[in-house]
Amino acid sequence: MPKSYHIAVIGGDGTGPEVVREGLKVLKAAAAKHTFKLSFTEFDFGGARYLRTGEVLPDSAADELRQFNAIFLGAIGHPDVKPGILEKGILLRLRFELDQYINLRPVKLFPGVETPLRNKGPADIDYVVVRENTGDLYTGVGGFSMKGTPHEVAIQTSVYNRFQVDRCLRYAFELARRRNQKKTLALCGKTNVLTYVYDLWERAFHAIGAADFADVKREYYHVDATCMWMVKNPEWFDVIVTGNMFGDIITDLGAITQGGMGIAAGGNINPEGVSMFEPIGGSAPKYTGQNVINPLAAVCAGGMMLDTLGETQAAAAIERAVMDVTANKLKSLAAGKMGYSTTQVGDLVAERV
Ligand code: IPM
Ligand code: MN
Repeated sequence: MPKSYHIAVIGGDGTGPEVVREGLKVLKAAAAKHTFKLSFTEFDFGGARYLRTGEVLPDSAADELRQFNAIFLGAIGHPDVKPGILEKGILLRLRFELDQYINLRPVKLFPGVETPLRNKGPADIDYVVVRENTGDLYTGVGGFSMKGTPHEVAIQTSVYNRFQVDRCLRYAFELARRRNQKKTLALCGKTNVLTYVYDLWERAFHAIGAADFADVKREYYHVDATCMWMVKNPEWFDVIVTGNMFGDIITDLGAITQGGMGIAAGGNINPEGVSMFEPIGGSAPKYTGQNVINPLAAVCAGGMMLDTLGETQAAAAIERAVMDVTANKLKSLAAGKMGYSTTQVGDLVAERV
């Protein structure tokens, strides 16, 4: 009996549905070739639904989504909705409620892709950022006092407990071991200023590393220096692990070094539960409906989804197909400059898997 996976699909806002369509096209081609089954169930969460119904996300959503093997997401963010409402109410809420405690973001330069880093090529830019995905400044702990007065106070607190830190570090150590490249895990922190939160991270990092991952080399970088070396010497990195806020920031920097939002994919992973895969760029409202947006980030997110589900050969086939397309077909990764439409790029990848 071929294996069968039930996938929840959230196209979302802006160009989300367009890139998801191409992602699904490639996933279907991979399934046909590698003899497993995929079934898709669409959910209409996003800005349009919110504007129509006033409801951001039904309370039943997380429980419904838990019934699936994985979630495939396009983009969340609508020009007619105040920033924060949909992002917090859909994306962050699902990450938290489904306890997707790892945000896995590979930074890999594919052949033929232009990087803004001078004299760097695919051999230099190939590492993975493990961004903790449930804590830090993202927990919503904080508040205002004396709001609206000249003495107004605003507080937003970075929150971590040892359990969150430990499980994230263990995942990152295991990934560094499994990648079997430089077998190096770099902790990105700010121990010189954030002397509580990153002190906890650093102690846990060395304790776990020494006890259970003696074969993995440990390095430490402050976040500001991490940014510098990601530009100057990206070839130093193998796996980087960091908290939620620094992870958010450094992965946009990483994304631009690999060719930008057209290609950068990520996975919100609960290793014991349901994971959600997405292109890490936004909904790009100005390109909506024009068939010009680059779908490769969504295609790569689909590949990561298959890898996490255990279909590693199909995932590798998707990556090879994307590399062939970036190396030999696309003029640029930028929207409207690819030399092909969104649907044509999806076709090019699909016929190569
Ligand atoms: C990301 C995004 C989100 C984040 C926003 C949209 C809430 O920037 O996935 O990196 O900050 O995590
Ligand atoms: Mn971000």
